Amino acid sequence: MLIVNKTARFFSKPLKSKVYGLLRTFHVHSGTCFRHKLVLGIETSCDDTAAAVVDETGNVLGEAIHSQTEVHLKTGGIVPPVAQQLHRENIQRIVEETLSASSISPSDLSAIATTIKPGLALSLGVGLAFSLQLVNQFKKPFVPIHHMEAHALTIRLTNKVEFPFLVLLISGGHCLLALVRGVSDFLLLGKSLDIAPGDMLDKVARRLSLTKHPECSTMSGGKAIEHLAKQGDKGHFTINPPMQNAKNCNFSFSGLQHIIDKLIRHKEKEEGIEKGQILSSAADIAAAVQHTTACHLAKRTHRAIVFCKQRDLLPPTNAVLVVSGGVASNLYIRRVLEIVANATQCTLLCPPPRLCTDNGIMIAWNGIERLRAGLGILHDVEDVRYEPKCPLGVDISKEVADAAIKVPLLKMTI
Ligand code: KG4
Ligand code: ZN
Repeated sequence: MLIVNKTARFFSKPLKSKVYGLLRTFHVHSGTCFRHKLVLGIETSCDDTAAAVVDETGNVLGEAIHSQTEVHLKTGGIVPPVAQQLHRENIQRIVEETLSASSISPSDLSAIATTIKPGLALSLGVGLAFSLQLVNQFKKPFVPIHHMEAHALTIRLTNKVEFPFLVLLISGGHCLLALVRGVSDFLLLGKSLDIAPGDMLDKVARRLSLTKHPECSTMSGGKAIEHLAKQGDKGHFTINPPMQNAKNCNFSFSGLQHIIDKLIRHKEKEEGIEKGQILSSAADIAAAVQHTTACHLAKRTHRAIVFCKQRDLLPPTNAVLVVSGGVASNLYIRRVLEIVANATQCTLLCPPPRLCTDNGIMIAWNGIERLRAGLGILHDVEDVRYEPKCPLGVDISKEVADAAIKVPLLKMTI
């Protein structure tokens, strides 16, 4: 019998964690009372200091997050030593807030899970050093987490999704398509050959000086582009999606970034304005870049689905396509991917936007998944090191390219 009501699996806002943190999850079985396994997750791979406590049924007991976005918007990008300093200043407070919102002490934890790869070396180092202190002090098992694995598995916290499923991970640092066959069993179908879509959107937003736009001054670049695109006409500028002749599942965004750069320079000249002022055509440019990005992501994802079905890696119908990572919080991109999902009889699932961007919940949940599967739980942390670069899964992207699958043209009308 469940004594405590499991109302909210996660909170609508981090601050609410204080309220839900009072929920405790106990089970009573034939007179004995035992507690669910609890994992503290810690994330510092990039520019968010985040932590959460999640139990094995997926209840979030508490979470806290400190975002560095506003600071990095001012410096025009992430400066790693600044990110490191901000992680150092905030990590203890964030973990203490998480534990107090969860109404638990570190000794109640079953394990501590922390992102150790991939990411910014200086940022990863802060989370790892802090976690290892806790692990040693409270004699807890340690679960090292791959940041992209955590993004991929988040959907199993919010939805009932069985393996295998296809995942498209799109963020500021990553862009990949992978088949998820198990908790740590991934086949990499394709990845970005240069920069990630979030990075490209951040650069375009910076070039458009969107921090000076009254409606987007505190938004991340990608979010600002999505916001502005709603006021623009995506057909005003025609930009071809990248890599149209390459029949693989890889991505490229730096060429697109240069095309947009050129377009902005041209428009600045035409409108007679200086770099740093907002173009009257900024919304049209935002709409065009968002649409082209969505079409590029959609084409590669479509090919990946066909490839997996041809090889019986996914079921012919009702296969699941998961899209996650910071860029997956973009609702326009989701709608374009929905067109691909419908055309291929797949179900598109995305975590809610606040679980798409970096957070502690996905790390704690990945810890729970690994604990349940008995994978990668360390009792000796002597040799643990962070790894700024670390591929995800077994790379079969060459096999995908060799198949050279031509996918039918889909009408992307939104
Ligand atoms: O997953 P995430 O929080 O951190 C990384 O691991 O990179 O993703 C951050 C990225 C940033 O590039 C940001 O501009 C982008 O996600 N992003 C968006 C949106 N919200 C955040 N991109 C497009 N549309 C959005 N609504
Ligand atoms: Zn991320």
